[in-house]
Amino acid sequence: MITPTVQLVRPAPSNKRKRTHHVAETTFKKSMDDFAAEVRDLLKVSLEPRQLLEMSEKLEVEYREKLKSSNISMLPSYLHTLPTGREVGDFLALDVGGSTFRIALIRLGEKDDGRDGLRLRRVRSFVIDKSIRDLKGRAFFDWMAERIGEMLTEYNHINGTTDARVRMGLAWSFPVDQTSPRSGRLLAMGKGFCATHGVEGHDLSELIMHSCRARQLNVEMRAIVNDGAAKLLSQAYRDPSTCMSLILGTGTNAAAFLPYKTLGAGKFGDRPDSWHAVAKHVLVNSEVSMFGRHVFPRTRWDDELNSKHILPDFQPLEYMVTGRYLGEIARLILVEAVSTAGLFDGEMPARLHEPYALDTSLLAAFQSDASRSMSKASAAFLDAHALPSPPRISELHFLREIAQLISRRAATYLATALHALWRLRTAAEGLQPGEASHVTIACNGTIVEKYPDFRACCQRQLDELCELSGAAKGAVNLAMAPESSLFGAAVAVACIGDES
Ligand code: GLC
Repeated sequence: MITPTVQLVRPAPSNKRKRTHHVAETTFKKSMDDFAAEVRDLLKVSLEPRQLLEMSEKLEVEYREKLKSSNISMLPSYLHTLPTGREVGDFLALDVGGSTFRIALIRLGEKDDGRDGLRLRRVRSFVIDKSIRDLKGRAFFDWMAERIGEMLTEYNHINGTTDARVRMGLAWSFPVDQTSPRSGRLLAMGKGFCATHGVEGHDLSELIMHSCRARQLNVEMRAIVNDGAAKLLSQAYRDPSTCMSLILGTGTNAAAFLPYKTLGAGKFGDRPDSWHAVAKHVLVNSEVSMFGRHVFPRTRWDDELNSKHILPDFQPLEYMVTGRYLGEIARLILVEAVSTAGLFDGEMPARLHEPYALDTSLLAAFQSDASRSMSKASAAFLDAHALPSPPRISELHFLREIAQLISRRAATYLATALHALWRLRTAAEGLQPGEASHVTIACNGTIVEKYPDFRACCQRQLDELCELSGAAKGAVNLAMAPESSLFGAAVAVACIGDES
């Protein structure tokens, strides 16, 4: 119960409490209780299973349209088979994500004494902060090549080689229009990256190899896959029931192994007849983040975030479910609570008025702090957003409730998006939901891995939706696939082999 503060004219505060952001003589339009009730209603809207099923049906219609024609979503890779789990070899795997560039030496094949055959021999992580995201065009790929050069030195060192030719696989956390198993046109990137400046539409593999050749690096790009496809490949190497994937970190995406006939002829661009002759299925990068603009109910805070985004409406689902945005949604709610309902007595915590200043990890801190005092979450909050006096318990409970509401909505919307993709795949395989064999969805990404109760909540919603559409309990399982972008990039090279 938050103390009522309706229409309260506050006297100028005594000088004993220094204010960080003065909201003098504040008249609050509403009480915190009314505001909290409104937030609850707006974030809980349409989370009923029947309504979610309707949303899933609408999404499935959108998916089918983009499978027929779209050059930015439902993108077919060149992979028409899944790994057998018997692939072997040493590879250099590259994983370009929203906030890190990771390079690893991967060995496939060692399956003795219970090992799953996927081995990370060496891995290096390079932070992608704003200065790197701001690198334009070739400058970004030069930066990548520098890092690859560092890892290559290590490769030659541990292999006692001086200039071994190394086969590379790339997991690219952005859309790419594939033109061969190892190349593709660079498409718009999202996540605040400027690397496409002046080179959008250029061949991604050639951009990277040009910078590598300039540094005499003895490497060759043998496979490029979207990170969604990489997750699926890495888990399919371990578990043949894997035919879908989910990423949920800075961004979100899902891949699926779909029958060839599900896609419109125009989606394949110009591929050799030999490829069409053998392709009965295709590994498809859905770019699921780009769906749901007119399906998922939104709040005024979602609309505000979207309208102020550099790419409004580009990835409507992503802006409501991923690590880059959950904190921002909460920040917009808190800013309104402070200025219109007297949260923290109308004191704006430090830096809270800065866009994207509230980190999603703080929501996780509130959601995992079940203590009565909530001292841990409060300390984390005040560390990032100072206040002259500590928040009241009721205010900390309000922050925890916001965290729970925002993350639950995200998990539910994602489960709905996955259910629609699963149902589409099941139908495309000529099966009824009740006939479909068990499906594993390979999962990875900071939110689905680490955010409290997120994966369990998503699984619960998915189970409910699958059973509502006639499937057996547990028909679809979200399975964590650690290191899957790196492993998947290596498995892609092994799967493609010498295919041109
Ligand atoms: C973004 C990108 C997508 C990527 C996802 C997760 O949504 O558009 O390609 O898979 O983030 O990294």
